[in-house]
Amino acid sequence: MPFGLLKPLVDRAGRYSWIWPSTFLRQAVPRSRCISVLTVLRFMAGYWSRRRPRFLAGAAISFGATCFDLALPWASATLVDAIASERDQNTVWSAWLMFVLMFVGFTLTRNVAHRIWIPVAARNMEELTNEAFDRVQRFPAAWYSTAFTGGSVRQIGRAMWGYDDVTDALTVHVGPAIVVLVGLSGMLLMRSPLAGGVAILSVVLFTIVNLVVTARYVRPANLISTDLDSIVSGKIADAITANASVKSFAAERRELARLEEDTARWRESIERTWSRFVDLGLLQNLILLLMQAGVTGLMVRAWINGSATPGDVTFAMTAFILMSGYLRNLGDSVRGLQKGIDDAADAANFASERTETPGSHPGLMVRRGKVQFDHVCFAYGDDRDPILSGFDLIIEPGTTVAITGESGSGKSTLIRLLHRLYEPQQGRILIDGQDIAGVSLASLRSAIAIAPQEPVLFHRTIRENIAYGRPDASLDEVQRVARLACAEALIDRLPGGYDCLVGERGTTLSGGERQRVALARALLVDAPILVLDEATSALDRDTEEKILRNLANRSTGATTLVIAHRPAPIAAAGRVVRVIQGRALEA
Ligand SMILES: Nc1ncnc2c1ncn2[C@@H]1O[C@H](COP(=O)(O)OP(=O)(O)O)[C@@H](O)[C@H]1O
Ligand SMILES: [Mg+2]
Repeated sequence: MPFGLLKPLVDRAGRYSWIWPSTFLRQAVPRSRCISVLTVLRFMAGYWSRRRPRFLAGAAISFGATCFDLALPWASATLVDAIASERDQNTVWSAWLMFVLMFVGFTLTRNVAHRIWIPVAARNMEELTNEAFDRVQRFPAAWYSTAFTGGSVRQIGRAMWGYDDVTDALTVHVGPAIVVLVGLSGMLLMRSPLAGGVAILSVVLFTIVNLVVTARYVRPANLISTDLDSIVSGKIADAITANASVKSFAAERRELARLEEDTARWRESIERTWSRFVDLGLLQNLILLLMQAGVTGLMVRAWINGSATPGDVTFAMTAFILMSGYLRNLGDSVRGLQKGIDDAADAANFASERTETPGSHPGLMVRRGKVQFDHVCFAYGDDRDPILSGFDLIIEPGTTVAITGESGSGKSTLIRLLHRLYEPQQGRILIDGQDIAGVSLASLRSAIAIAPQEPVLFHRTIRENIAYGRPDASLDEVQRVARLACAEALIDRLPGGYDCLVGERGTTLSGGERQRVALARALLVDAPILVLDEATSALDRDTEEKILRNLANRSTGATTLVIAHRPAPIAAAGRVVRVIQGRALEA
């Protein structure tokens, strides 16, 4: 059923003004909650069918186990009747043996079914996680500018366990429960139509109450708790990521206070969710009471009237115990199913979310490296001011152009458009005459090496970081570009040198050190187009000038765009262009 159910209940509950989740979630989790249960189940079914023979074999054996369970009341009735009618010992013992064998059969088959399923589940969960991660990393840059990293990490992890919950619920619990409930109700009906009728009525009532109360009462509360759970994780990750800023303003208390607001909301919501679970449990037990008293009472009455044997009464008692177990389990399973579906909804949503265009386009053929911005207009959103409005610029192959302009004038935006992290609303960008909108992203991005102002490094060794664009590069090649980027001395000073780990995002290095490592990384790929986006802004003038000299002497023939403010890089370029009011002005 649609997630839209959330809305009225939240309104009625009052304390969560609907405004809060809607506006907040649109920013924090913009993609979730517009997906139907069927879509999520279809998403899961895609995984089940990947290992269909094994999956079906497990299901068939599990059905066999259920049949043994189904026969247990019959076996106990036979045993009691044998005892009550004082038959010979052999008959009694063979009835006893049958009773025991039923359970042996159940245990063995259930165990085998689980063993068949284990690798299926583990493999599917592995693939689901890998695929969700792969998809998320191909989401467009705009997605990343609004998503909470921690939240997404959590969503991927939850989806994995969501798969497990849903699959378990359907195969181990709900399916067998239906078989046992229908089977035992039918068998009761044959022994006593009245008792059978009460059993069927209870089962139907239990199922309807369970489904309706879960969907209308429990699930909406659970959805809010799940969202709050993501939000809390996202905010913890956000604050921990920016911990350096927190420390520098001694804002630990403030951050804690912010988190406390969210955890308090989570607590309120989880209390409500759990109370609703308990309410549901109470309702379930009341219906089970009706079943217990009704079914066994009717059988006892029939025995008094002489129309039922002690075996029939035993049958009713055993059937009740089994059925109530399965029904209660069914309640839990429906809840597990519900929770699993909610948990997997984000990943199913990931699957339908637009990723960057897949590489079915032809590759970019760079012959000389001419770059042309042709009347490019761009804004970061319909509701935002345009950053570029009719930007025209031709950069001849092999030349170096300096691009200057006020901070925020759109210089880095030009580069983002060149890498197609965003698409211009109007105009075209051409490389050697080919519109970059029509070429594969991989070919485009590998033709343009960028050294950014604020590089993000991986928590890997310096060598791995520099060789990121060409993991097979030799140590010699890595050292050569490190020398060009004036990074050699700083790397030699680090413990372990090139094997030194740099900390998450490169936190153990200074801003200028990170810039030099990132510059070396960009130089190593030897791309035909090189972009330095204020890539030496954190360095002292001497080092900056030395790097510029190194680059000028390198003469690889790369077309070079140098975004800079300081005189040295501007003077080093053959041509200077200013970005003013979204246009290029020759300086
Ligand atoms: N992802 C984004 N979403 C919305 N606005 C952005 C985004 N990135 C940058 N901007 C805005 O676009 C403008 C130009 O940014 P940018 O090109 O980075 O400037 P700069 O010339 O300093 O490199 C700035 O006003 C900035 O706030
Ligand atoms: Mg910039």
